[in-house]
Amino acid sequence: MRMVILFGTEMGTAERAAEAVADVLAGRDVAVHDMADFDVDDLNIQDFHILVCSTYGSGDLPTGAEPFFEQLDDRLPDLTGLRFAVFGLGDTVYGDTFNRGGEICAEKFAALGAVQVGEHGRHDASEPTRAHEQARVWARTLPIGTLAAV
Ligand SMILES: Cc1cc2nc3c(=O)[nH]c(=O)nc-3n(C[C@H](O)[C@H](O)[C@H](O)COP(=O)(O)O)c2cc1C
Repeated sequence: MRMVILFGTEMGTAERAAEAVADVLAGRDVAVHDMADFDVDDLNIQDFHILVCSTYGSGDLPTGAEPFFEQLDDRLPDLTGLRFAVFGLGDTVYGDTFNRGGEICAEKFAALGAVQVGEHGRHDASEPTRAHEQARVWARTLPIGTLAAV
């Protein structure tokens, strides 16, 4: 099964976290893409998608992720059968909007029929652990072995 890691970032932290996830999955068929360069039509329900996304504004998606989700909202592809996992990035100093970016990703994919698997990762930039370090630990918890090809 192909693993497609899509990151949405403003300043590059989510990209480094996505690369750390890819390192953990090394040896498998893994591709890493910036959401800013990824066409919604290239989503394949047979692939396992890992969404790594930060939060900006007042609990919004980062600028780099906006075109991808605008396309998703416009085209409303049927994602039934697609499995995905989410590692979100945020900062608890933002209070109620903590980690909304990753949650928006999960809500939008689920609304189109996709199924989230594994623990929803949430990095807090106020904690001493770096995002890529936490992402590496999180990636090892993904239930990859139980994902049979569709
Ligand atoms: C202007 C600005 C607004 C932010 N807004 C939020 C927010 O609403 N909620 C949140 O959890 N984190 C928020 N953050 C924190 C970022 O999501 C966090 O620093 C993240 O690690 C950045 O990842 P990136 O470099 O991949 O964009 C904000 C950061 C900045 C600079």
